[in-house]
Amino acid sequence: MTNAPRPYESYVYAYPHKTAYRPLADRPALRELWADERKDALSLYLHIPFCEVRCGFCNLFTRIGAPDELTTRYLDALDRQATAVADALHAGAATGVRFAAAAFGGGTPTFLDAGELERLCDIAEKRMGADLRAVPLSVETSPSTATADRLSVLAERGATRVSIGVQSFVEEEAKAAVRPQRRSDVEAALGRIRDARIPVLNIDLIYGIDGQTPESWRLSLDAALAWRPEELYLYPLYARPLTPLGRRAHPSEAGWDAQRLDLYRRGRDHLLARGYEQVSMRMFRRSGAPREGADDYACQTDGMIGLGCGARSYTSDLHYSFDYAVGMREIRSIIDAYTTTEDFSRAEVGRAVDADETRRRHLLQSLLQAEGMAVEGYRERFGSRPADDFPGELDRFAGLGWLDTDAGPDLLRLSPTGLAYSDALGPALFSPAVRAAMAAYEAK
Ligand SMILES: C[S@@+](CC[C@H](N)C(=O)[O-])C[C@H]1O[C@@H](n2cnc3c(N)ncnc32)[C@H](O)[C@@H]1O
Ligand code: SF4
Repeated sequence: MTNAPRPYESYVYAYPHKTAYRPLADRPALRELWADERKDALSLYLHIPFCEVRCGFCNLFTRIGAPDELTTRYLDALDRQATAVADALHAGAATGVRFAAAAFGGGTPTFLDAGELERLCDIAEKRMGADLRAVPLSVETSPSTATADRLSVLAERGATRVSIGVQSFVEEEAKAAVRPQRRSDVEAALGRIRDARIPVLNIDLIYGIDGQTPESWRLSLDAALAWRPEELYLYPLYARPLTPLGRRAHPSEAGWDAQRLDLYRRGRDHLLARGYEQVSMRMFRRSGAPREGADDYACQTDGMIGLGCGARSYTSDLHYSFDYAVGMREIRSIIDAYTTTEDFSRAEVGRAVDADETRRRHLLQSLLQAEGMAVEGYRERFGSRPADDFPGELDRFAGLGWLDTDAGPDLLRLSPTGLAYSDALGPALFSPAVRAAMAAYEAK
């Protein structure tokens, strides 16, 4: 056996990561970028970069509060961007432009009030042409912003999934994660979400918080299970640079890894014993629950249209977005620049995704799903087998016991250990070029 790597290197929810994006010198026109793309099953993502608080662990692109009508100016800019993007998509499109799924993410989309959420849905429908009542529509929310009036707008406009960040039902743990909240407020928010009758409820929980024990973790899991959520996401805690937790003294790294691995295994076993299936390291779905556009289940071949200043868009050979930052001051100035932008017809910051990167992305995203990757599907798409393209990586994973040896020759599937080490395995598949770009990125 090779020496085991550390289990928590990074969460790969999109490859290549935004820190590998760079300003695009030629600022390509969206019209050209999308001209030859398939546009009949696009995903639409609208990003709202506002929160009521900045949680200690969070490095998402979001700011606290929105002074001076900033949400109105942001929605105005979103409207201008949607108009420009829709023009580019429709230019010369022989076949129809159609959205097969939509999501509002953040930050906290429900930071917007009920009237603003109506406007957000209007932008998706009237500007982009997405039929929100006909496709899965997933929305992120938080306990303090999941109010009855906002949820009723979302339900009425076609939301099929609501995902709420709870993190912990134990008040001391929420405080330790710099996410102070009262349990009674969390329970009330969950009640309002169930009252809104949106088909899928997802609850996010975090393990590895200072002071968390197997018993307190179980308490949070059971408190979540009492709501019979269709989905649960269990996140290992990360303390990333420039976040409040990242600036604190770290506990012993090895001890923390062991704590998180232990809590992961306990959480997984607890949910498996209570009628949940494991979809990926983080995601669990109640058996028989509908699939309603869960965000880490994106099909690798679909095009993605992201609107808003933290959103990514994907064509088959370019991923692009706007500038990226974690620090508060930089985030604020990027949002301000976005709200004054008039010309949204070009891609500004991004990264080309060539044939090799496309294969890596496919392998990465499929292998990190518990059901694994059909070798034949890969061969049909790329004309080669994963073992031809990634012999060194796959041998190493096999040597570490990360691959399920019972899966047979036609299926590449992670073993339980491999799934537990998803956050080490994912980064191990990054190309040298992406790795170098990420290392050269200066956090701001
Ligand atoms: C957009 S938020 C969810 C919605 C809402 N903003 C909220 O916090 O209630 C995304 C989720 O990612 C998870 N997350 C973000 N940063 C994390 C970190 N450093 N470690 C662990 N989980 C993290 C949290 O569970 C969080 O709920
Ligand atoms: S976890 Fe959610 S509420 Fe907290 S800062 Fe991040 S996006 Fe905002």
